[in-house]
Amino acid sequence: MNVIIVKDRTEGGRKGFEVFQNAYRNGAKVFGLATGSTPVTTYEELTKSDLDFSQMTSVNLDEYVGLAPDHPQSYHYFMQKHLFDQKPFAHSYVPDGLNSDAEAEMKRYDQVIADNPIDLQILGLGQNGHIGFNEPGTDPALGTHKVALTESTIKANARFFKNEDEVPRYAYSMGIASILTSKHILLEAFGPEKAEAVKAMIEGPITTDVPASFLQQHNQVTIIIDEAAASQLS
Ligand code: F6R
Repeated sequence: MNVIIVKDRTEGGRKGFEVFQNAYRNGAKVFGLATGSTPVTTYEELTKSDLDFSQMTSVNLDEYVGLAPDHPQSYHYFMQKHLFDQKPFAHSYVPDGLNSDAEAEMKRYDQVIADNPIDLQILGLGQNGHIGFNEPGTDPALGTHKVALTESTIKANARFFKNEDEVPRYAYSMGIASILTSKHILLEAFGPEKAEAVKAMIEGPITTDVPASFLQQHNQVTIIIDEAAASQLS
């Protein structure tokens, strides 16, 4: 793991952009994308840049079950607002939260990933060590699957909704196995609330208790963390 410590998320966004730019220059065509607050500064740098994604493909990590693409809290909507409106891709794939046939959606999305091998996957990190919506205890061999969100994730995500009751209880997520098929993985984590998970991910054992610890098995991982998130590293 290549760990880069930055001052704050603004500097993290600039470093994250450099990773995208290098991948782009080295011929990356498929970009795996995440939502949440973490990648926003990287997306800001991308939208300001002259990189052209109009011939590229994006594949998002996850989507809430039950939210339509135009729901303001859907991950479709988030991507539209933070990146796609300014930097359209030729093809952008996000799991279909309105597909109530979970088996069919899982199969469809696994095929999307198989047809579009991801060159660079950006990830955030949950306070409980999750990546995508792979919560502690998730079988690392799973591909795309339907997830019941944990209480801690529901609470952490409630800030984006009117109240906790409005947070969907299920999501479709790429699995850890799907994430690990990406050629290069970029994980970003900012803020003191991520410090414990960062330590467990980098210095702890590989365990289903900390889904991000499986990134230790990958040979090209870049981790960008700010000083607060790095504060528990030895
Ligand atoms: C989002 C995702 C999640 C977030 C994680 C951190 O697509 O898959 O794993 O990356 O929950 O969220 P933030 O960045 O809001 O702290």
